[in-house]
Amino acid sequence: MSKTEEWWRTGVVYQVYPRSFQDSNGDGVGDLKGIEQRLDYLVWLGIDAIWISPFYPSPMADFGYDVADYCGVDPIFGTLEDFDSLLAAAHAKGLKVLIDFVPNHTSDRHPWFLASRASRSNPKRDWYLWRDRKPHGEAPTNWLSVFGGSAWEYDAATGQSYLHSFLPEQPDLNWRNPAVEAVMFDVLRFWLDRGVDGFRMDVLWYLIKDDQWRDNPANPAFDPARSPPHMTLDPLYSADRPETLQIVKRMRRLLDGYPGDRVMVGETYLPIARLAAYYGGAAGGRLDGAHLPFNFKLIQAEWNAAEIDALIRRYEAALPEGAQPNWVLGNHDNPRVASRIGPERARAAMVLLLTLRGTPTLYYGDELGLTDVEIPPHRVQDPREKTQPGHGRDPERTPMPWSSETEAGFTVGEPWLPLNPDWPTRNVEAEREDTASLLNLTRALLALRRAEPALHSGSWRSLGVEGEVLAYMRVTGSSRWAVAINFSGESARFASPAPGILELSTEPDRQGHIDEGGLDLAPHEAVVLRLDQAGAP
Ligand code: NOJ
Repeated sequence: MSKTEEWWRTGVVYQVYPRSFQDSNGDGVGDLKGIEQRLDYLVWLGIDAIWISPFYPSPMADFGYDVADYCGVDPIFGTLEDFDSLLAAAHAKGLKVLIDFVPNHTSDRHPWFLASRASRSNPKRDWYLWRDRKPHGEAPTNWLSVFGGSAWEYDAATGQSYLHSFLPEQPDLNWRNPAVEAVMFDVLRFWLDRGVDGFRMDVLWYLIKDDQWRDNPANPAFDPARSPPHMTLDPLYSADRPETLQIVKRMRRLLDGYPGDRVMVGETYLPIARLAAYYGGAAGGRLDGAHLPFNFKLIQAEWNAAEIDALIRRYEAALPEGAQPNWVLGNHDNPRVASRIGPERARAAMVLLLTLRGTPTLYYGDELGLTDVEIPPHRVQDPREKTQPGHGRDPERTPMPWSSETEAGFTVGEPWLPLNPDWPTRNVEAEREDTASLLNLTRALLALRRAEPALHSGSWRSLGVEGEVLAYMRVTGSSRWAVAINFSGESARFASPAPGILELSTEPDRQGHIDEGGLDLAPHEAVVLRLDQAGAP
C-alpha cells in the first residue's frame, strides 16, 4: 500500500465486543487478556485495526456504555496494565487499536454525577442537564429516551429533573459547559498518551441540545413496523444541533496534535446529507471534522440491487471532496447481517462490504456467518429488551465460537450469554479447515483487497443494475476491476464490460478467464474480476 496514505483510508477495522470475544479467567465474560490471546487470529484473518467497545469501570447498566471512570479498566475486563499489554502486543503485530469514547453521558454512579445531584449549588450541578419541571409537574420537554419513555428523570431530593437520552442510569453531560469539555479532552489525552490509534465516539450527534429547550415535533416519517419507538418524535431539538460540529472540530484538532495517524470515528445515525456534514470543512477547505462518520446505511437498507446501487451512488455523491467513505454491515446494536438478510446472502454481502470504496468495519463473528441467537427470557441481559421487548440487542452479542471444545473455547465457565447452538460446527477452527467457508472467503477477500491498490484505494463507478445484478468498477491507473453481485435466488447473467480473470467468487473453486460475453452468476453469487487491460472501458 502507498506509504503516503493514512492507514485508516486503506485498512479494515474489526469490532471486538469485549464481553463476548474471549474469556481468559473462567468467569464467563470476555476480557482484555482474552483479546490479546486472540490477536494472532486477527492477523491471520488480515484486518488492520481493532475497535474495542467500552471496557471502563462501569455498573454495567448498559454494559459499559455507562462509564463510572473514563481512565480505568473495569475489573471484569482486567487492569490498566492488561490494556497496556494488549496495546503493545497489537502494535507489535502491526495492528492499530481504537477504543470507544462515550462523551454524551456518564454512569449515574460517576463521582461527577453524584456531586451534581447532591445539591443545586454543587459546583458540578451544571456539568449535567438539570431543569425544572413544567408548572403542572410535566417533564421539562417532551423528549424521549432511546430506551423508552421520557428522557427526563425527576430527582425529588433537589426538586429538578435531569436529562438522560438513554437509560436513567446514563445522565447526559452538559457540553455547553467549558469545564466538561476540558475534563473530557483530558480523557482523550490520557488514552492518546498511552498510544491508542483513535476513538470510536459514541452517539456523537447527541452532544449538544437545544439551548431554548423546545419540544420535539411529531415525526411524519415514523413507521411503526420499522422505526424504534422513540422515533415517534423527530429529535430536532434533542440531537444533531449545529453547535455539535464545533466540538467535533475541536476534538479533531486535539487528535491532530498527536504524532501518527490518530483517527476519529463517529457514531452518526443520520441521513446521508447530515452525516456528510460531520466530515467538517468549509467549501474547498481542509476537512476538519471526524475522519470517519459512521455510515450505517447498509444496515438499514432493503437488500435488493436497485436500492443498494442507489444508496451507494447517493452516498458517494454527498461526500465532500477528500472525504473517506466507510461501510459497515453489523454491530452490537443491530441484528446480525446473516439474520437480517438471510445466511444465503451473507457471502455476497461480505464481497460488497470489502470491495466498496472506503473503510469497512467488520463486526466480530460476521466472518463466520454467525446468526442472531434466541435468548430465553431468564437469560436476557440487555436493558433495552426489558423496556422495549423485541428491541433487545443480546441476540447479536453472543460469544465468539472458537472451536468445538467446551463452550466453544470462549470460556471454561458459563458464558454470560448463550452460545449460538450451531457452535459445534460453526466455529473458527472448523471454518479454517473448510476451504469453502465464509471465514476463508473473508480472508481471501481481505488478502486481495490488501494486494490490489484498485481495491483498497481505487475509484468507484457504478455499472448499473441489470435485473437483480448490481455491478461496479474499481480502478487505479491501468488496474481495472469489476464486481458483480447477484441479489436474487435465481441464476443471472452478468455482461462484463471487458474480458478478464475471475479472481474470486462466493462459489467455491470458481476461477478462470471470462470472455467478452460475461458470465452466468449462480443464485446469490458475487464475483470479483480483474479486467484485461486491452479493451477495458
Ligand atoms: C450507542 C451504543 O453503540 C449503544 O450500545 C449504547 O447503548 C448507546 N450508544 C448509549 O451509549
